[in-house]
Amino acid sequence: MQHREAKIVLVMVGLPARGKSFLARKLARYLRWLGQDARIFNVGSYRRERIGQHKPASFFDPQNPDGNRARQRVALEALEDAFSWLRGGGQVALYDATNSTRARRRVIAELCHREGAEVLFVESLCFDRTIVETNVRETKLMSPDYVGVSTEEALRDFRERIAHYERAYEPVDDSEQSFVKVIDGGRQVVVNRVDGPLLARVVALLLNSRLTRHTIWLTRHGESIYNKERRLGGDSPLSPRGEAFATALGAHFTPPPPGLAVWTSTLQRTVQTADALGLPTTAWRQLDEIDAGVCDGLTYDEMARRMPDVYAARKADKLRFRFPQGESYLDVIHRLEPLILELERQTAPTLIVGHQAVLRTLYAYLVGDPIENCPHMTLPLHTLIELTPNAYGCDEKRTLLTRAVEERHSIIPS
Ligand code: SIN
Repeated sequence: MQHREAKIVLVMVGLPARGKSFLARKLARYLRWLGQDARIFNVGSYRRERIGQHKPASFFDPQNPDGNRARQRVALEALEDAFSWLRGGGQVALYDATNSTRARRRVIAELCHREGAEVLFVESLCFDRTIVETNVRETKLMSPDYVGVSTEEALRDFRERIAHYERAYEPVDDSEQSFVKVIDGGRQVVVNRVDGPLLARVVALLLNSRLTRHTIWLTRHGESIYNKERRLGGDSPLSPRGEAFATALGAHFTPPPPGLAVWTSTLQRTVQTADALGLPTTAWRQLDEIDAGVCDGLTYDEMARRMPDVYAARKADKLRFRFPQGESYLDVIHRLEPLILELERQTAPTLIVGHQAVLRTLYAYLVGDPIENCPHMTLPLHTLIELTPNAYGCDEKRTLLTRAVEERHSIIPS
């Protein structure tokens, strides 16, 4: 039975340009956000570092004995490094390589078992040529392998490389124990003999991941009466300044991007803010602000005076600190997990109107920031954060929407 300390190796499998590295990065980001120590070991990077980046397609020909030996050597080096990292306390190693033959996978599985690590093969198969073509153009042509090479030459060489791999490729079959097959970017997912809570979460993410990339906007609600009084929690309405922000937000999204989904918490300050858009919204309890428990409604000064121990404990470790009868940041991460899966399933651009602590944890997931940073992130009021995914992460743009109002009040949003 798998437990938190179990060592796990997620072995990626698939032809080049099937989105393996994209999935590996997504899985690593998710696992780290859940508090696991996860690291990617990418064999392509080892090959580039140790053998060189400009390797012609012939290097990947299964009939090329020198190429084969060299590729096998770096592949084993990467796996060895994954094992030493696991021995040093790492939890989930993502072994990112083609691993395209049964024989290669048998060796990997055997070495992992000798190391006491569980293995899950994560295979990405694409029958849809348009997905492959998009991957080739969006990611591979940006690869360091083709720096300084014309697009035409890079395309020709890379297609030849894929053809070499295709000749030797053997899909994972039922005898290969635990595996997940992600077909055509998640249109179909096949799961075989996957056991244990952590691997179940890996499967859940893979089941919900979509290939479509869309923009996500995050914003806190407009200033509320409690914000003005610097009080924690509660369910107060917007202040006049907060209402001005709601109007500016509505104007910013006029006309709205096609299909825009608008999510709020169930608290009135987010609902009121999103109302200004005049669009249907979904209110999620998971998006409600961190529960301040017995401190709800207090100002920080009152908290320091009335509960100095609580105040000091919060200051000492804001990530793990749990408000008495309330929540910690880690609790918030836990309750946001289903929402993350829902967000992964979305195929439309999404605006989330939320609260500071909750948006900090969502932001950490979306940009891949360590969760330790969550409690200290700067997410000011009245600022719209636009996150647009690219092949390797996401681009970020921040816009203060109510500059005129802020200047009139000479207030720095907090
Ligand atoms: C590479 O060298 O780029 C990848 C090697 C492999 O995974 O087959």
